[in-house]
Amino acid sequence: MIFTYISHVLLSCIIFSHSVARIESFTPLPRYSVSSILVDSKLYFFGGWGKNPDESEGCQNSVFYLDTLSSFSTLDNNIPWIDLTSIANLPVGTCWQVSAHDSQKNSIYILEGLMINSSNQVNVSDTLVYSFDTKIQKWSKSMISGIAPPRRMELQISQDSSNIYMFGGLSGPLTGSQNTTWFNDMNILDIKSLSWLIVVPSGIDLPPPQADFTATILNNGMIVYIGGRQATNAYGSEISYKQMNKIWTYDTKKSFWNLIVTSGTIPGVRTGHSAVLAMDGRIIVYGGKENEELLSPATPDLAVLDTASTPPFQWSTPKAFNAPPILAHHSATLIGNVMIIAFGNVTQQTTVAPGPTSKVYLLDISNKSNYTWITSFNANTLKPTSTTEQYEDSTTTYSIKPIQPSDKVISLNIALILGAAIGCTIAFIIIVIITVLLLRRWLKYKQSSENKGLSDISVSDN
Ligand SMILES: *[C@@H]1O[C@H](CO)[C@@H](O)[C@H](O)[C@H]1NC(C)=O
Ligand SMILES: *[C@@H]1O[C@H](CO)[C@@H](O)[C@H](O)[C@H]1NC(C)=O
Ligand SMILES: *[C@@H]1O[C@H](CO)[C@@H](O)[C@H](O)[C@H]1NC(C)=O
Ligand SMILES: *[C@@H]1O[C@H](CO)[C@@H](O)[C@H](O)[C@H]1NC(C)=O
Ligand SMILES: *[C@@H]1O[C@H](CO)[C@@H](O)[C@H](O)[C@H]1NC(C)=O
Ligand SMILES: *[C@@H]1O[C@H](CO)[C@@H](O)[C@H](O)[C@H]1NC(C)=O
Repeated sequence: MIFTYISHVLLSCIIFSHSVARIESFTPLPRYSVSSILVDSKLYFFGGWGKNPDESEGCQNSVFYLDTLSSFSTLDNNIPWIDLTSIANLPVGTCWQVSAHDSQKNSIYILEGLMINSSNQVNVSDTLVYSFDTKIQKWSKSMISGIAPPRRMELQISQDSSNIYMFGGLSGPLTGSQNTTWFNDMNILDIKSLSWLIVVPSGIDLPPPQADFTATILNNGMIVYIGGRQATNAYGSEISYKQMNKIWTYDTKKSFWNLIVTSGTIPGVRTGHSAVLAMDGRIIVYGGKENEELLSPATPDLAVLDTASTPPFQWSTPKAFNAPPILAHHSATLIGNVMIIAFGNVTQQTTVAPGPTSKVYLLDISNKSNYTWITSFNANTLKPTSTTEQYEDSTTTYSIKPIQPSDKVISLNIALILGAAIGCTIAFIIIVIITVLLLRRWLKYKQSSENKGLSDISVSDN
């Protein structure tokens, strides 16, 4: 009995030290233009533009995730980050890239953006697609058939379960090509056959070449392209900010472009912003800049496009108090009713210094009349009632499955482990001493009660 008890204490000691190491051992370095994707409750982050070990800045090859099954507070340093870089770093340094997910093959794809060859520091120009197997945590280069479109950056992609839709963006020396080119082509990567398809879109009007927009796919298969910049031709002549009162949409079912005129309170222009889709059809747009040179923030920082209102595509610009600093090139993911904003570039001096950040901010979007920036993420209220929920949007795949067995790989903080080990050893010694004392007492008691019992028997015998 006592040994079972001791083993229980030791076991909880080990589990405790393990979870402490899990939660507090790793904080990613500041960065922006990372790509992120939610797969089975793990919010993965890849690469991004950030500081190298030698203090210079560049594209990173890091891989880590945020465990959304754990509750956390953004005020404490307990964000449940799990690092995978030491065992599964990206084969190239990447930033401004995009990611997509194939649940059938347990694969996350990383494509486009800047990819820097680690061995010779050359900016890769080939349209390589790397895939990350989330089960075995290994990278491989995907063999993709068809004609690959030129590598590009400053775009967002959309996906459904069968296709990745890649529109627009721009290429230049950063993406390994000689000249700057602005794109307005639609390219489809068939996820099942891993092939680039040739698309001939139709529409009353076709969109001009553009970049720096967000792409959000609605449940009806329509992709909504919000904000960014446009050019009058592929050479990037006459670049202008896209007004937010007219929105290009692409119907993936009919390969059809449409320019939708919105109503409501029209927000200001923006690039480097984020957009997530709520269950009820609202697109929550956050952050970004309204001027590439001055880096002035988009106004207002929060704008909501309701695609399900009557009439549809109505803008509103709700106020939310305690907003984060002015951010651009951050990542945004909706989990339940909480929008998780992570990383990004603080473009202007506010309460925090400008430059890349690794901070996390949370916006509660549950109440349409009261958007609230919150500081705690409660995983318990977000757990699904049914076994599997699936929800897809432009930047993320909302997909929470029953709790998976914990990861094999954990980055351990030696100091914490050592602390926990010493603590556990001391606890163990104390338990042993107490046990020995109790045992001695019990033996004494047993002896005296046996004597008593004998006398009792002798009494009853009388
Ligand atoms: C990186 O450079 C090396 C040496 O030049 C080359 O062998 C390799 O194929 C390059 N990798 C990529 C992804 O371009
Ligand atoms: C390649 O990318 C880096 C960023 O990692 C950039 O500083 C450099 O200018 C790029 N090279 C060329 C030739 O544009
Ligand atoms: C790049 O631009 C130059 C000058 O405008 C032109 O001569 C050259 O053909 C272009 N290269 C490519 C690959 O388009
Ligand atoms: C990021 O912010 C810093 C500081 O304001 C600025 O110098 C830099 O140009 C910004 N980069 C981008 C891509 O916005
Ligand atoms: C909005 O919600 C927050 C938190 O739920 C609450 O503290 C605040 O009073 C609400 N604001 C209004 C105007 O009702
Ligand atoms: C939403 O917020 C408004 C304004 O603060 C409040 O009057 C309303 O009761 C809230 N609704 C819910 C469901 O909490």
